[in-house]
Amino acid sequence: MSNNYLFLFSLFILILSCNSYQKPSESCLPENLDKASKMKFTQYLIQGKILYNNNCTHCHQNSGKGFRKLYPSLISSTALMDNIGPAACLVKYGTIHSQKNSNISIPMPAKTELNNLEIAEILTYIGNSWGNRTGFISVKKVATSLVNCTTH
Ligand code: HEC
Repeated sequence: MSNNYLFLFSLFILILSCNSYQKPSESCLPENLDKASKMKFTQYLIQGKILYNNNCTHCHQNSGKGFRKLYPSLISSTALMDNIGPAACLVKYGTIHSQKNSNISIPMPAKTELNNLEIAEILTYIGNSWGNRTGFISVKKVATSLVNCTTH
C-alpha cells in the first residue's frame, strides 16, 4: 500500500466522532468541527500516534495504562487534564523534581529533541484516546505551557 493510501485509510479509521458507542481504545474527534479543523485534528492524531509509539509506549504501553506502580496510566491523567501545562513540561523536560510524584521512584526521561509541533501532536493523540477528551491541543498552547515549566 502506498503512503497516500495508508494515510487515507488511517483518516477513514480515525474520523470517528466521540459517541456513546466509542470503544475506549479508539481515538476520536469531537462533533461539530468544520471540515478544515477535522482534517487538522485527524492529522495530529495520526502523527501523534506514530510519535507516541516511538517515544512513549515502552513505559506507558499502547493502551495508555502504564505499568503497575512504575509508570502511571495516562487515562484521566491529571497532568494532562490540568490545562495540559504539566504534561507538556513532562514530555519536554522529563520529571521535574519539584513536581515529582512521591509514589513513583523512576523519573520520566526528558525528550528535549521533540519540537512544539511534535509535542502538540502527541498530546492531541493521548488527550483524545482511551476515553480522554481534552480536545485539540495546538502548537501555540504547547509553546505557552512550556514557558512556565520549572526545569530545575
Ligand atoms: C522511561 C519511561 C517513560 C517514558 C519513555 C515516558 N514516560 Fe511518561 N512517565 C513516566 C513516569 C515514571 C512518570 C511519572 C513521573 C512523575 O510523576 O514525575 C510519567 C508521567 C507521565 C505523565 C503524567 C501522568 C500523570 O500522573 O498524570 C504524562 C502525561 C506522560 N508521562 C506522558 C508521556 C509521553 C507523552 C511520553 C512520550 C513522549 C512519555 N510519557 C514517555 C515514565 C515514562
